[in-house]
Parts: sequence; structure tokens; C-alpha cells
Amino acid sequence: MRLLIVILNFFALTNAAKILFVSFTNSKSHIGSMLPLAQALSKRGHEVTLYVEVYKQLGDFNGIKSHYVILKEPEDNWAMNTFMDRVWNHEGAPSGMVFPHLIGNEALSEAVTQDDFWTVANQTWDLIISDEVFTPTGYGLALMHAERHGTPHAVFSTTDTLHVFTTMLSLNRNPALGPSYYTSHKEPLYWHAADFVSRLNSVRSTMVEYASIGILSEWLTSRAINQIGHIDFSWSHYYQTAALVYVDYPDRFTWPIANGNDLIFVGSFCTGSKALPKELEEFVNDPSSKGTVYVAFGSVVQWPFAPKRVVNAFVDALNNLTEYRVIWSYKGTPLTVKSHVRLVEWAPQIDLLHHPKTRLFVSHGGLKSLKEAICSETPVVYMPFFAEQIRTAMIGKQLGFAEYLNKFTIDAPMMIRRMSKILTDDSYQHSISRQKSLFDDRIASSLQEGVFWTEKVILQGKTVFFKRSGMKLSWFQFLHLDLFIGMISILAIVARS
Ligand SMILES: *[C@@H]1O[C@H](CO)[C@@H](O)[C@H](O)[C@H]1NC(C)=O
Ligand SMILES: *[C@@H]1O[C@H](CO)[C@@H](O)[C@H](O)[C@H]1NC(C)=O
Repeated sequence: MRLLIVILNFFALTNAAKILFVSFTNSKSHIGSMLPLAQALSKRGHEVTLYVEVYKQLGDFNGIKSHYVILKEPEDNWAMNTFMDRVWNHEGAPSGMVFPHLIGNEALSEAVTQDDFWTVANQTWDLIISDEVFTPTGYGLALMHAERHGTPHAVFSTTDTLHVFTTMLSLNRNPALGPSYYTSHKEPLYWHAADFVSRLNSVRSTMVEYASIGILSEWLTSRAINQIGHIDFSWSHYYQTAALVYVDYPDRFTWPIANGNDLIFVGSFCTGSKALPKELEEFVNDPSSKGTVYVAFGSVVQWPFAPKRVVNAFVDALNNLTEYRVIWSYKGTPLTVKSHVRLVEWAPQIDLLHHPKTRLFVSHGGLKSLKEAICSETPVVYMPFFAEQIRTAMIGKQLGFAEYLNKFTIDAPMMIRRMSKILTDDSYQHSISRQKSLFDDRIASSLQEGVFWTEKVILQGKTVFFKRSGMKLSWFQFLHLDLFIGMISILAIVARS
């Protein structure tokens, strides 16, 4: 038996590949999105390393070799403060996407002065998987290794692929077919393809996204990447050389998109849950409680930056739910709340959502939270802030498992009304249970599919996938502007003569 295990291990190891994941600077959220695939690959026997620049050492992740470059925490973190101000006080705007690019560029400049970075850069890898956004270190390492060793590389979208990058992939999405990430938060949430203003807004924000990411951030990023050797960086070159794109966004409920076989949807899976810590279990199991309300806004949205009126609305509204037990994942200035409300700096989110007494989730609508709500069949009140969150709220409302709160106009009575509606009407529960039955009912688990295609790329290189020749066209050609100008010129000449 022992011998058999040794032999099996030998076979497992001979096929083992060295895979490097690179995630956006200091982002627990992005690491959390990439981790399930990384761990699934590690379970298959591959040697998986995670590289990320951080301000403080993070813990170890099961089965993953982590490699952190520790950055000096800036005293006046201008880019972060500006980003948080936009998160709480402004509509999402594509121009805001430049700030996290600045954070990523700054991190690379600091990383190249440290040995830890070069230890990773000097090794050889079988595959480099880089975060889709804000990660010049990942793009740089991928292109450097592609050039020097022919190493394949891949992109990981921690939400839906950005519009501008679908252009690079020649999988253009017609912006007039769905709401963008920058859709107005105004109530009632509204977007319709037949509505002129809806389409105009989507097209406008797509153009601004193109300018701020496709042009401005590309220029900033290429300057940052030049610090690790002369690498000719452009988004279009980067996507032309990428073997595949992993997408964490669900493929089953979204607006129509163009798809290619090099887009691998790895995010539609559920994970198991554990029992709650004893003290929390006792709190939520109080026999007088009609159920548990769980409030959490993920790891990016920070409460210390919240306007006072929002904090007050939350305190008043949650204090009102005396028949329920409330757990609020909150890190900020101390608050006084009634005894049925428990403030915690960190909560075992998945376990809490799966707890049989949990009735409602108050969430920002981040992708992982959306999936965790569906997997645990918990209806939601969404208060979205940025990126995919506004679309999550729209999806939730449209599919009948969620209500919406506007971050600009929220007050206690409105919040109480929205929460009570869900707590007293069973239809929200039925809708989300139906979504669960559609979400992870698949021929193979989406993570298994991810592992399958990853191994194919490692063995066969990027020729595994079909690439569109539109990827080689400039945007000028792609939009037929050359034809258009040619035709106008001919018409002008004909008209004159
Ligand atoms: C990485 O390689 C470069 C040049 O090949 C060398 O100068 C440097 O010392 C190496 N650094 C580490 C940490 O291995
Ligand atoms: C809760 O809110 C309702 C409606 O605004 C109000 O009538 C009620 O008095 C409040 N209850 C508590 C305990 O604050």
C-alpha cells in the first residue's frame, strides 16, 4: 500500500507545474477571488505561489506558497483617501479607475528595489496568472517571462471583464445592451435597452472608460513596467499574448455578452460552511429572536470614511429591529447600539449566511457576497458603492431576491421599510432559492473546468484556444473609421465635381 502511494505521488509530481498568481496590491478582496482556483490547482498537485505587494504581512493560505513584498505604508495615502471619498460620496465614474492604477504602479516601483520581488522574477514558471486590473507587476512578470522563456500567461477577472478589455479581446460588448458599472444610483434604479437615455449613458461611460483605462492608465502602466526591463507594454499586445482569461463573474445571469472559448468562467460554485463559534451561535440562537440580520460591506468599503448621516441611519434602523438579532461587521469609531445588535470587527460570513436562523443580508453587492448570498439562499438589501455593485443590485431586484438602498439618500425609515419588506414577504426567499438551483447545477463544477483548461494550457501552450483576428486590428480599423472616412471623401469629391 505504501509503495502504491509512493508511486502515485511520483506520477502526480512528474506532471506538477509551477504556477504563479499575481494579485492587485494589498487587496484581500482580489486575493479572495483568485484563491479558490489557486487552491483547486494546488490540490491537483501543482506548486502554486501567490505573489502580492502588501502594507502588512497577510496570513498563509492553505496549500499555497505565499510571497509578500512588504511596502512602506504611505503616511498620507492620497490615492486611497481619494478612492474612499469617491466610494462614499460620489457616483461610480470610469475616470476613478485611474486611482487604483496609480496604487499598483507605485507598488511596483517600490517592489523592484527589494530582493523578494527578484526572487520571484528570477525563477522560471510554467504559467503566470495575473489579476486583470491595477496589477502592473503581474503584467510585467507575465510579459518578461513570455519573452525570455516562452512562458504562457493568463488573465484573471475578479469580477466581469472590463468593457475596454473585451475590446482588446475582440469580444466587444455593445454598450447599448446593458447597464455599465457606472450607472446612476438614483432611485428608482432603472436601465432599459429601449430607453434612449439609458443607452446614451452606457455609451458615454464606455468612452470615458476607454480614455481613462485604455489610454491614460496604459501609458502610466507602461512607464511603471519599464522599471523591470524594457518591455513593450500595451493592453492590446498583452491580450494578444494571453492564453486565456478566467472570469469570476457568473455566466448564467447577466446581460448578453460576446463569448469566446478562451473565456473560462470559474466562479459559479458554492463552498461548504462550518458551525459558528460558540458565543456567536448562542447570540443568534436566542429563542426570542425571529431571525438574524447580517450586515457586511466586504473588505474594501471602510466605515471610518462613511458620512455621519449614513452611520446614524444604520444605527437607528438596526436598533429598531428588536425582534431580530443583528450582526454588523463594523470597524470604525465606537457606536452605542442596543443589546440585540452585535458589532464585530470580523465575522465568519459564509458560516453566518448558512446558519438556519439567518433571514437577511445587508450587503454592498460585491461579487463574492452576491455568490455567498445565492449559495446560502439569503435574500439581500443592497447598498452598492462601485464597480459591479450597482449591477448586482439591479440583478437582485430584477430577479426578485433583493431590495435597493441609495447611499446618497439613505435614512433610517427607508432602511427599516426595505428590510421589513424582505423579512415579512416570502417571495424574496423563494426567488433566491430558485437562483441557487440554477447557479451551481452544472455538468462539472466551474472550478474543475478551470483546472482542466489550466492544465491544457500548461501542456499545449496558448494554441489551445481560438483567437479572433479582430484582436490584431487597431480601434480605428475595428470601428471601420478608415472605411467611413474613405466613403465620405469619395462622396465629397463626387459632390464637388
Ligand atoms: C536576479 O537576477 C539578477 C540578474 O540576472 C541578479 O543580478 C540578481 O541578483 C538576482 N536576484 C535575486 C534575488 O535572485
Ligand atoms: C421602529 O420604526 C417604526 C417605524 O419607523 C416606529 O414606529 C417604531 O417606533 C420604531 N421602533 C423602535 C423600537 O425604535
